[in-house]
Amino acid sequence: MDTLEQKISQIDKNRVPVHVAMIMDGNGRWAKKRGLGRSEGHSEGVATVHRVTQFSSDLGIKYLTLYAFSTENWNRPQTEVDTLMYLIGWAIERELPELLRNNVRIHLLGDIERIPEEPRKRLFYARDATAACTGLNLNMCLSYSSRWEITEAARRLASRVAEGSLSPSDIDEKMISDNLTTAGIPDPDLLIRTGGEERISNYLLWQIAYSELYFTDVLWPDFTNEEYADAIIDFQKRERRFGKTSEQVTNTTTTSQI
Ligand code: FPP
Repeated sequence: MDTLEQKISQIDKNRVPVHVAMIMDGNGRWAKKRGLGRSEGHSEGVATVHRVTQFSSDLGIKYLTLYAFSTENWNRPQTEVDTLMYLIGWAIERELPELLRNNVRIHLLGDIERIPEEPRKRLFYARDATAACTGLNLNMCLSYSSRWEITEAARRLASRVAEGSLSPSDIDEKMISDNLTTAGIPDPDLLIRTGGEERISNYLLWQIAYSELYFTDVLWPDFTNEEYADAIIDFQKRERRFGKTSEQVTNTTTTSQI
């Protein structure tokens, strides 16, 4: 079994993914296995968020996008929703000094107005406080779903067409991308889902058109930097073709689509 250092030495530092997206699944099962409440699984999950943020930053990854709370998660029992909201607000406040030290910039993606006022204030504070940071961009998806953001984009463009400032024939893929919450962010190179399920769960559906997918059975609180390094090593072995032939891309060295 390789140590973390041995795994890190296998990573080609010139070809790390520019953008890694993660679906952090398995907190509830992690807690249940230990006879604990689901909230304790989420608390432990925050420690993994801390680890993956630091590791991404150390590797020079430019964007890390985390699915922290989906539109559908509002349908969970109210006590769990309350705990998650509290945890997210508390964690962001606690982590802020270290995020600033590590030059990490926070972005909030999703229907943030639905987040209760107290955690929302902490999130806005952290986002604004890190606005000048130029290292890792940490995108926190909160009250987010792909279908929600695509619907919002469609509404926005349709109203411009209705008022006469946009012609339907001018709508192209870039315009749609520019109207999603991820506007200006390159598409993910690698999407990692922990927790054993192999599905996308309404996450970044437009943006992951050419992302490499990596599924692991490891539950989110148990997701270590060793496992994260494994995912990146696996990613670097893949040939990304973006619809072209293998021969066409053989000499391409970039990890990003653009
Ligand atoms: C899915 O596991 C996880 C969530 C719905 C929440 C993830 C949130 C965190 C890890 C905290 C985030 C904090 C910050 C600061 C970003 P699950 O509950 O569905 O697990 P299960 O499938 O085992 O039930």
